[in-house]
Amino acid sequence: MEKATLLHYATMAVPRYTSYPTAVDFVALDDGQRIGWLRQIADGQAVSLYLHIPYCREICHYCGCFTKAVRRDDVIADYAAAIVRDIRLQAQYLQGRPRVVHLHWGGGTPSILPAENFTAIMAALREAFDFDGAVEQAVELDPRTVTPVLAATLAQIGVNRASLGVQDINRQVQEHIGRVQPVMMVERAVSHLRAVGIEDINFDLIYGLPLQTVQSLRETCETVGALRPSRIACYGYAHLPGRRANQKLIDESLLPDAFERYEQAATVGMSFKQQGFVEIGIDHFARPDDPMAVAMRKGRLHRNFQGYTDDKCPVLLGFGASAISEFPQGYAQTIADIGQYRRAVAAGNLATVRGIAVGAEDRLRAALIRDLMCGFAVDLAHYGGKARFASELAGLQPLIADGIATEKDGQITVPETSRPFVRIVAALFDTYRSSKPVRFSSAV
Ligand SMILES: C[S@@+](CC[C@H](N)C(=O)[O-])C[C@H]1O[C@@H](n2cnc3c(N)ncnc32)[C@H](O)[C@@H]1O
Ligand code: SF4
Repeated sequence: MEKATLLHYATMAVPRYTSYPTAVDFVALDDGQRIGWLRQIADGQAVSLYLHIPYCREICHYCGCFTKAVRRDDVIADYAAAIVRDIRLQAQYLQGRPRVVHLHWGGGTPSILPAENFTAIMAALREAFDFDGAVEQAVELDPRTVTPVLAATLAQIGVNRASLGVQDINRQVQEHIGRVQPVMMVERAVSHLRAVGIEDINFDLIYGLPLQTVQSLRETCETVGALRPSRIACYGYAHLPGRRANQKLIDESLLPDAFERYEQAATVGMSFKQQGFVEIGIDHFARPDDPMAVAMRKGRLHRNFQGYTDDKCPVLLGFGASAISEFPQGYAQTIADIGQYRRAVAAGNLATVRGIAVGAEDRLRAALIRDLMCGFAVDLAHYGGKARFASELAGLQPLIADGIATEKDGQITVPETSRPFVRIVAALFDTYRSSKPVRFSSAV
């Protein structure tokens, strides 16, 4: 592909399609609608749970997550109490005790919670839900906060997978992103976790950061690969300082351009594949025996708000400020303002503010977009045939001409070299995109 063509596609703003419809298409939604959906969950039905802890000790310059800096421990304790209340409130609408298959502690930095808050939240969950089967329990951790005591608490409540935010190991890059974290700290965190039996370790990396080069990224990938993680997620840095004030601290003159980003992403992919990891979708890598790699081989890879997953559960219940719940009938999001969230649950409300009910057409397009995002191919015959997608196929022609996709008898494929651009192909099938100009991060 010519450089000008590559730059044209690499700078296109497109959603990440962790859901369809995407969260920017949510509309006003209230507790009544969500309660109706909660009531339809049956006793013993498989559910996944997501807990959002929106606090960090300090905010990294690059961060795009929903989180706030907190100094006082009483603020964290009050929030943990609100989550317990939230769990009990939602539980009263359930029919019996649904069976948990996956539990994810996300943030922010869940490792900011003291041991007693972890155990109180877990106790509330065990009262409301059945944890008797195999449960994958994952937690997002800041390596700077991982102590032997924290590791022991996590093991005791049943955590069996931990994601560590590594970002980059280069000291100069770390200084420019406000996240100084010597690689020794990551190694220590990994050994504390392994010492208590938490063997499944994921690392989060970012490319496209200030001062990063192809060479520096290769070093980062080789160093972290040697620590034998089960999975690695490597996201392109999403720089949206208009939305995230902390990102104004990033020196834009040091950011790699779109072409360098493309080369960095390719370097990351090459390095992990050379180290024996399997490439999963656009931004994940896994050891061949990891459940996500197995799911991909078996065509069972899925996508949810945490990115790629092997969790295909159709119900995901969210707890905490800004948390999104997914039901077969639609999505519901809790208010993001932490004070308002706490006051709402204290008053006995679920604090639902946004979401969207999905219809048959949304479900069909969600599955089609998932095929593309997870397998880089879709057979339109499974979705009603070519004739149903005449305008999308017309929109696909320039992409075919530029080598981004191929189409034969309704089988659309994104070739290996164009995989970073799969979101652009997916966006053609997104009926919400045509009507709304919204700023997303760039395709690469
Ligand atoms: C909730 S944090 C992980 C846990 C913990 N707070 C930490 O930072 O170690 C989730 C991950 O999102 C990624 N991330 C955050 N902001 C990003 C951005 N602007 N662009 C791309 N990735 C980002 C980082 O890799 C980060 O580790
Ligand atoms: S990257 Fe992690 S630690 Fe840094 S501000 Fe974001 S959520 Fe907090």
